[in-house]
Amino acid sequence: MVLSRRTFSAFAGSAALGLSLSGSAGGAASATGRAHVAPTGPAPGPPAADRAAHTVGLDRYSMLIDGKRLVLWSGEVHPFRLPSPSLWRDVLEKLRAHGYNAISIYVSWNYHSPAPGTYDFTGVRDLDLFLRTAAETGLYVIFRPGPYINAEVDAGGFPGWLTATQGTARTSDPTYLKYVDEWLTAVDRIAARHLYTKGDGTIVLYQLENEYADHVDSPLGRDYMAHLYAKVRADGIDVPLFHNDKGRNGYWAPGTFDTDGETGRYLYAFDGYPSPFRQPPDWGYFGIGGTRGGSTASPETPGFIAEFGGGWFDPWGGVEFGGKGYAESRRTRDAAYERRFYLTNLANGIKVHNVYMSFGGTSWGWLPAPVVYTSYDYGAALDEARQPTAKLIPMHQIGQLLHSVPDLAKLDRAADITVGPDIKAYHLVNPDTKAHVYVLRNDSSTEVVASVPLAGTTVRVPVPGLDARLLATGIALGRRTLRYSSAQPMLWLTAGRQDIAVFTGRLGESTQTALECASEPKVTVLEGDAACAYADGVLRVDAELSGLTRVLVEGGGTSTPLLLLLADDETSRRLWRYDTPSGPVLVHGPALLRTAALRDATVHLTGDTVEAADLEVWGPRGIRDVVWNQGAVKTLATASGSLRAERQLPGVPGVRLPALTDWRRSVENPESAADYDDSDWKAADKTSSYSVTPVPAGQPVLFADDYGYHYGDVWYRGHLTDAGDADSVSLSYISGSQGLLMAWLDGRPLGTHRMPVPDKKTVRQGTWAATATFPVEPDGRGPHVLSVLVRRMQHDQDGTARDTHKVARGLTAVTFNGASPAVTWRIQGEVSPDPVRGPVNNGGLHGERHGWHLPGHADGDWKTVGFPRAERHQGVIWYRTGFRLAIDTAVDASIGLTLTDDPARAYRVQIFLNGWNMGQYINDVGPQHIFVLPNGLLRTRGSNTLALAVLSDGTTPAGPGQVELTLLGSAAGGVPVTLVDSP
Ligand code: GAL
Repeated sequence: MVLSRRTFSAFAGSAALGLSLSGSAGGAASATGRAHVAPTGPAPGPPAADRAAHTVGLDRYSMLIDGKRLVLWSGEVHPFRLPSPSLWRDVLEKLRAHGYNAISIYVSWNYHSPAPGTYDFTGVRDLDLFLRTAAETGLYVIFRPGPYINAEVDAGGFPGWLTATQGTARTSDPTYLKYVDEWLTAVDRIAARHLYTKGDGTIVLYQLENEYADHVDSPLGRDYMAHLYAKVRADGIDVPLFHNDKGRNGYWAPGTFDTDGETGRYLYAFDGYPSPFRQPPDWGYFGIGGTRGGSTASPETPGFIAEFGGGWFDPWGGVEFGGKGYAESRRTRDAAYERRFYLTNLANGIKVHNVYMSFGGTSWGWLPAPVVYTSYDYGAALDEARQPTAKLIPMHQIGQLLHSVPDLAKLDRAADITVGPDIKAYHLVNPDTKAHVYVLRNDSSTEVVASVPLAGTTVRVPVPGLDARLLATGIALGRRTLRYSSAQPMLWLTAGRQDIAVFTGRLGESTQTALECASEPKVTVLEGDAACAYADGVLRVDAELSGLTRVLVEGGGTSTPLLLLLADDETSRRLWRYDTPSGPVLVHGPALLRTAALRDATVHLTGDTVEAADLEVWGPRGIRDVVWNQGAVKTLATASGSLRAERQLPGVPGVRLPALTDWRRSVENPESAADYDDSDWKAADKTSSYSVTPVPAGQPVLFADDYGYHYGDVWYRGHLTDAGDADSVSLSYISGSQGLLMAWLDGRPLGTHRMPVPDKKTVRQGTWAATATFPVEPDGRGPHVLSVLVRRMQHDQDGTARDTHKVARGLTAVTFNGASPAVTWRIQGEVSPDPVRGPVNNGGLHGERHGWHLPGHADGDWKTVGFPRAERHQGVIWYRTGFRLAIDTAVDASIGLTLTDDPARAYRVQIFLNGWNMGQYINDVGPQHIFVLPNGLLRTRGSNTLALAVLSDGTTPAGPGQVELTLLGSAAGGVPVTLVDSP
């Protein structure tokens, strides 16, 4: 890299540089009038499970951690959507590195409870380990265990077995509360071990219920919320509690239900999912302004957005829903979207901010609610394959800013300013430091140059279309004070003998930055082009943003030099701050910095590279040596006060993936044969159900949940006598979107019915019900056997608290036309839950019940076949193969399984990797073709087993077509990965 080195003595005649530093700015310090030490005090350092007692409080401005103001800048992550505990650390380190100081997690009841009274927190469900990892990473935790979570998971997180219990969920119904208490006892026992108040972990906030908008005015709701409050407190949770209002309705604000006489330890929060196609929400300054109740409902607690959309979930494809895939979600909610929306929130006084999702992950197995497919990538800043996207840049810039500039934790609205047409300007002031903050938002699609009055000067600030930026005046940058800048401040820190300040913006932008200097400083442009001038107590630096522009400012009223860094977006993303007990470290260059630790004169760094990368380190005094990923790095001291690697760090070596060959094939569904022995199946002969679906008169209950079958496929066999005159049979079923039913009479296929997707209204009510009528020609009076396979697509969520998760799944009624045979039914679904993989791993296919998906299954007698295949068949055929990987342990390769075929072919595939159900591919619906195989489940050094259960309806030839491994990203670095038990 070329260093353009230009040293000159700053001079007073601004006209010489064509600058317009007007004298009206006033004296050196008077324009902003700030003292050099921020009375607000620094933001608290990164949290740890340090065994010390801490206070977690709040006032109307912000959370107060040990009395220090903190803006929580949190990202939503779901442990259950990444079934490989080692990778939790990878995701959390990536978020922390990119400026997040907190995460918010749901805990999904169904994931941990296969049966009433049974709660499993082991293996991939090890919540203790997750919370420990969050604390070790230095992230605060917002804990959200429901009982109801929604979250596009099966039944909104309610366990399958709860669908078959008495009582109305999400109310004060005693039966429901009994189960809720059981769950909370189990999950709170773990939460109580990780509270920041006790120094045992980093949980600082705990959510009750989720977007509970019904029964707000009734004792059913008020008593329920009061019960949850009292229960959680009785379980030893002493951090502030809150509820997330679905909109700004003011629901469940403090004082609206009984909080056991406690005040000041409960917060109002709300959620927002703005459309990228409409104007950003702007509801006024939290606590004092705005048109809807929620903005003013809780003036004594800080503005709190418990969920703000950082993407959006994608529905199944096809004409009905039209899911387009997550690339689209990431395109419509891009980095500028994040800036425009989140900066508006900050301008509106929001001090607890959580982006839903920041890493979406995978709704593996039977986790997805009917509305979504397997991937829950969400278009989030960190994608499903754990790869950082450009959306992390604004999160990084704003997160670092909030950490460096504590003034932002206490802001009042200040006088309106006008900045010209098409720009909405917000003006805020910290009442203690008198630092001013401005948010400029451009809702038009073209760039606007705003004329912004900043500290007595009018500054021209470009704001690209549909974008926003934050400006500040009067904030401390170490020993110096910012007069103003047209670039967004990102961070400052003290490293060694100097202060460092970073400003950012879009590539190619012209910026002006003015620093207060009591006397004329010595200014050296160390890199890039910058024009500098001193006049009237202000040093002004003009530079175009491109790469890293470095300006060293020495003297001018303080003996501590300031290194001013101006970075375009991409460059700013490669600037990593890490706080160590001896002081902060700033690293520039690699694709990711995970950790930094100081031992003697050595700074030990861990992180990732993708391309070959520079490495430059600023740190506390006395650092002489640098170690990167355990390897010593030769460095030179630079004029910037850093240590810089003499040679670039190497990028990631290429990763080769094997082709998938040697497939073996086996046909199943013996259940369809007339002579199949079903004598050990359960008799489906119940006469009543707690389902909200009525039991048809004169028929037995056929709802699968009533027989203990809650996930995946379910089989029925009806034994008929006197069916000889029947000319057709009508099978009514409910499955959820994309479900299907196939039937056989005495082993002969009758056909398949696929769930038509109902109109939006019925979707909301949670009914995917249909009746399939097939002509039959029974051969004589019988006995006959009607075999039916129903693919269920999970239970509805219960967003409106109407027990919609209790809408039946499976067959609901069967009628014969032309005859009235006597029928006895038997039913078979999933066998008892996999003790390691858990309840959502398996449904009730023959192959699943007999372990065909498991690595150890003996498939030696299966016939070898090649792909692609084109086979017309109603029913289920399995394919298995093995493959070996030998990926370097120093490489983090993220690998997916890609399935493609002619989209006219009607079939679907259940994908098992080493016995783990990685999701469902529907060839003629889509849009998902790539299934992420998380390392740990995937053995990156060793052999793996893939099993595909192909369900085809016989109307078209069916695949699989192309099935291949795909590299979704790789880096030199990563985290150590422990294999997940896969018996
Ligand atoms: C919210 C809900 C979340 C999730 C989200 C959409 O309303 O609280 O659980 O469902 O919508 O992804």
